[in-house]
Amino acid sequence: MARKSLTTALGNLRVTAFLFLSLHAVIGSGHDYHDALRKSILFFEGQRSGKLPPDQRVKWRRDSALHDGSTVGRDLTGGYYDAGDNIKFGFPMAFTTTLLSWSIIDFGRNMGPELKNAVKAVRWATDYLLKVTAIPDVVYVQVGDAYSDHNCWERPEDMDTLRSVYKIDGSHPGSDVAGEKPQPAAALAAASIVFRSRDPAYSRLLLNRAVMVFDFADRHRGAYSSSLRSAVCPFYCDVNGYQDELLWGAVWLHKASRRRRYREYVVKNEVILHAGDTINEFGWDNKHAGINVLISKEVLMGRAEYFESFKQNADDFICSILPGISHPQLQYSPGGLIFKAGGSNMQHVTSLSFLLLAFSSYLSHANKVVPCGETTASPALLKQLAKRQVDYILGDNPLGMSYMVGYGPRYPLRIHHRGSSLPSVQAHPARIRCKEGSRYFLSPNPNPNVHVGAVVGGPNITDAFPDSRPFFQESEPTTYINAPLVGLLAYFSAHP
Ligand SMILES: *[C@@H]1O[C@H](CO)[C@@H](O)[C@H](O)[C@H]1NC(C)=O
Repeated sequence: MARKSLTTALGNLRVTAFLFLSLHAVIGSGHDYHDALRKSILFFEGQRSGKLPPDQRVKWRRDSALHDGSTVGRDLTGGYYDAGDNIKFGFPMAFTTTLLSWSIIDFGRNMGPELKNAVKAVRWATDYLLKVTAIPDVVYVQVGDAYSDHNCWERPEDMDTLRSVYKIDGSHPGSDVAGEKPQPAAALAAASIVFRSRDPAYSRLLLNRAVMVFDFADRHRGAYSSSLRSAVCPFYCDVNGYQDELLWGAVWLHKASRRRRYREYVVKNEVILHAGDTINEFGWDNKHAGINVLISKEVLMGRAEYFESFKQNADDFICSILPGISHPQLQYSPGGLIFKAGGSNMQHVTSLSFLLLAFSSYLSHANKVVPCGETTASPALLKQLAKRQVDYILGDNPLGMSYMVGYGPRYPLRIHHRGSSLPSVQAHPARIRCKEGSRYFLSPNPNPNVHVGAVVGGPNITDAFPDSRPFFQESEPTTYINAPLVGLLAYFSAHP
């Protein structure tokens, strides 16, 4: 599909690429990528749930949700609130952990002093993922009742909404959940690589757990049970199916363990699990492009011809994302931002840009390019495209607005985030109850707590941005927007 539209779009491609480059030249910003990197990691501290450690740097946050899991007799404290609410959703937590890990695996050497903070950000997630997978054949996939939470505007520190615990087990085979939907095999496997030399015992623990969780997921392929679905949908509804989650888990297990069975699993299940579908999707719900790019590295290194078809899918993905090529699922705004329908667009911008950059460096090492019809995607072009997206986020856009809170002279002031928009516990020790928060939500004033490093959903297709709390699709930050951005900023801080 992408290839067909390619030839007709070639003229456009050159024009668009030229515009992109000239816009960049005019602004010539020279962003402080290292400052942005530091902030993008700091953001995760503001999203922490549970008991905060003494070295917590984000001071407007306090301990919260200290009884999570008590209703099922487990300690399920910790982990991250995924966005501007106070729920711990399994899908985003797993995807966030995987992408933070991938950022470190590929670009950790570019992080300088921030590397240790990035590793801590992974560990905050994996400590929690180990808790939710501690019982064999059970995965706790969510803590907090989304309806009751979304009905209130409360600080996490004050929460009195239902902290319901949702699980998958043998009799509720949300087995689709165990791929990585709320199935964290990929996250645990990826993180095991991060800790391999830093903390070998912890790394082994993560890998063994990934093996166990993956087996469980694979044995119980299926759809969400209706009971689980009602809790998770419509917030993180698994619309894409479980197949890509299983492959995603297997691919990371292959990379982390080098065990033959995962390689064979990936090869054997490629067609069954539809690796070639929806090639330019990558996010918490759909891992296709990520699977193909990650596996392509091995093909490019010349040691895995049996994965050749994944490399072909990755090439198709790369060609489909080039600006100037019309594709039904992906557009560029007039100001040059990647745009996909559905809200919280910045998640697509950072995830897809991460894949462009990762693939570009795999190509560079192999001294290869991607042929796209009559044109060629070189590693340099892919890096330029990824950098253009990062620069847009940091302020090179029609509004001159940085979409990262606390970076640059102009950034979103009214982000859709409970903790940021309500006074801190220090400033206002008395409890602010569910509906008492509404006046802060509706206030035109800037948020009192600057959530440094938070990257919001971003502008709409016309590059317009309302900077208003009720516009959550534009103004809400999420952990899965930031996780791939950490890798991008690391690379560009070392290669500005
Ligand atoms: C984009 O946002 C602006 C400002 O909020 C609004 O006026 C415009 O209608 C929006 N356009 C689209 C296509 O959503």
